[in-house]
Amino acid sequence: MPHMSHTPLNPGPPRQAPAVDERAGAGAPPVRPWLPMPRVTPFTLLADRFTVGRRGLYWATTAAMLMSVVLIVTGGVVRVTGSGLGCPEWPSCTDDSLTTTAAMGLHGIIEFGNRMLTWVLSAAVGWAIIASRLQKPHDLITTRLAWSQFWMVMLNAVIGGITVLTGLNPYIVAGHFLAATALLTTTVFTWHRVRAMDAPTPVAVGGRSHLLGRVLLGTSAVVVVLGTVTTGAGPHAGDSSDVHRIPIDWAAITWVHGIAAAATLAVAILLMRSLPPQARTARLRVATFLGVLLLQGAIGIFQSLTHLPELVVVLHLMGAALVWIGAVRVALDTPRSSARPGMAHAEGAPAAG
Ligand code: HEM
Repeated sequence: MPHMSHTPLNPGPPRQAPAVDERAGAGAPPVRPWLPMPRVTPFTLLADRFTVGRRGLYWATTAAMLMSVVLIVTGGVVRVTGSGLGCPEWPSCTDDSLTTTAAMGLHGIIEFGNRMLTWVLSAAVGWAIIASRLQKPHDLITTRLAWSQFWMVMLNAVIGGITVLTGLNPYIVAGHFLAATALLTTTVFTWHRVRAMDAPTPVAVGGRSHLLGRVLLGTSAVVVVLGTVTTGAGPHAGDSSDVHRIPIDWAAITWVHGIAAAATLAVAILLMRSLPPQARTARLRVATFLGVLLLQGAIGIFQSLTHLPELVVVLHLMGAALVWIGAVRVALDTPRSSARPGMAHAEGAPAAG
């Protein structure tokens, strides 16, 4: 449980709309009397009474990010075990049952289990929203980022439902993976912002490295999108029945996907070479990215040459999530300028206080 402390009711400014402009003198017309009163929501009431410490927020955002990776991986388990229609309806499992039944067998358990994990993810996201709202001082951007996670969970729940109702249409399956990646992106942004509040501000890396950091994010996105097309053309359709596949030659799209990964590797090497030696955070991020990318490439080549063994495909999915986290972190930690108002001291400089 995060530390949640009770703060005495802060009387603060009264929640009233202004009636007249005091500077304008007597007789002046009322200034915007229609101004809405500051909104009172359950969150503002909670924030008036309770505070969550930075550690609580950090663990909440970490949990949301980890659960996003877990759902990408377990979504892959559903697919490679052919359990995609283990629950053939949505939002209930079957026409007559909200949950899986004995008749749905192991596939039902796997698919329904994956649906249930969404609740764990939702709990983590809810915790992140509340923990960010109860920070003192309150950082509006962190709260907005936490809310963006909530909307991404909603989007994924709907696309997950459409995936089932369309009988695992490969384009929808690809869209579902990309929506899960969008959710992961929002969780990484939130986690990174919270972490950055106490970490040294990374030094500015110069225009070329800054640009290469963004190009790296772009090429990584292309690799991920091409990966989903490769899957759509491949044999792991998510069910044993005859599921429609994307009509592209599987070997050709695997090559294109692999070449895009090689191009990303080249960009990462160029970026590493362009970084100044004092940019320690950026160098660490790119080195980590390179290590994960190389491992992921090796897994990709191995699975392509060995008829896509299920376990290796699941590993490749986890690798895809980690490569994407790495690419986002590289982009965030290769700033053109090191000014980050309200954030921690600069990298390499002694911390103030
Ligand atoms: C190094 C960076 C790479 C990343 C980030 C990446 C990412 C991905 C992603 C996101 C998918 C789709 C997963 C899904 O929709 O379920 C995928 C599938 C695939 N990737 Fe990669 N990949 C990389 C490298 C490679 C390489 C070098 C190869 C081999 C040439 C490769 C071969 C494949 C194959 C064959 C599939 C389809 C697997 C299936 O049918 O389930 N990947 N990859």
